[in-house]
Amino acid sequence: MTDVTFSEAQTAVEERLVDTVIGSFGDCTDPRLKQVMTSLVRHLHGFIRDVRLTEDEWNTAVAFLTEVGRITDDRRQEFILLSDVLGASMQTINVNNPAHEGATEATVFGPFFVDDAPRIENGGDASGGAAGQPCWVEGTVRDTDGNAIPGARLEVWEADEDGFYDVQYDDARVGGRAHLYSDDDGRYRFWALTPTPYPIPHDGPVGRMLAATGRSPMRASHLHFMVTAPGMRTLVTHIFVRGDELLNSDTVFGVKDSLIKDFVEQPAGTPTPDGRDVGDTTWARADFDIVLVPADRS
Ligand code: BEZ
Ligand code: FE
Repeated sequence: MTDVTFSEAQTAVEERLVDTVIGSFGDCTDPRLKQVMTSLVRHLHGFIRDVRLTEDEWNTAVAFLTEVGRITDDRRQEFILLSDVLGASMQTINVNNPAHEGATEATVFGPFFVDDAPRIENGGDASGGAAGQPCWVEGTVRDTDGNAIPGARLEVWEADEDGFYDVQYDDARVGGRAHLYSDDDGRYRFWALTPTPYPIPHDGPVGRMLAATGRSPMRASHLHFMVTAPGMRTLVTHIFVRGDELLNSDTVFGVKDSLIKDFVEQPAGTPTPDGRDVGDTTWARADFDIVLVPADRS
């Protein structure tokens, strides 16, 4: 529709409305709010005029957003899911995480983090008995100058091999999540599960939008980390599995090259790093060195 030419009078009507709405914020005393609202109106009107939005489409959009609101409660945040699948969450992360030389990149938080995950010691098991291939994960936590950070708190969480987080189980089992602290040398190590792919919650309006637009709800396999340390910027990220066929189609656009790691499968019977007996099964190992940015650097 954008190649349709409108009369000068029609264009003037549309532009006058944009100017009038922007002018309505003239008395706003908060300069940042005024800037955000002005830009929002410009882009919103630009979109409506670009696609020549019909009144039926406007009604559909209102009904869709109403449904997103209705399904949102303390346990389910459909608005964030909508932001995630539109890439708005990742773009906000990009804007707020200028690439610091050598620092670990951030990615989406997702809806499955839970406070108060069990504490494990270094070398402990974060799987909590959840099903999946055992996976040894280890690495260091350092600052951008290369100094080790002892006592950094690492929260880790992931889905089981069937693609479910513990909060999606029918019972109150806790599994696939834990927290631990880096040791005096800034090193950490723990047992987890080799990540597997799973769909985001897609039984609501966001799932219907994905289906209507021919998109998959699947996320690339990943293991979540949130790393905090005094004086450092909190890092929310994941590591992804090199070779996963979903790396290029992650439905929330969360994959960054630097976060793709080798999860190296070990044949059954291979001795484990800590001597743990994993039985007659394969296991995997992955290395992930984390670099945090000082909080006072924007
Ligand atoms: C997740 O990684 O668990 C997730 C992230 C964004 C939306 C839905 C799920
Ligand atoms: Fe996840």
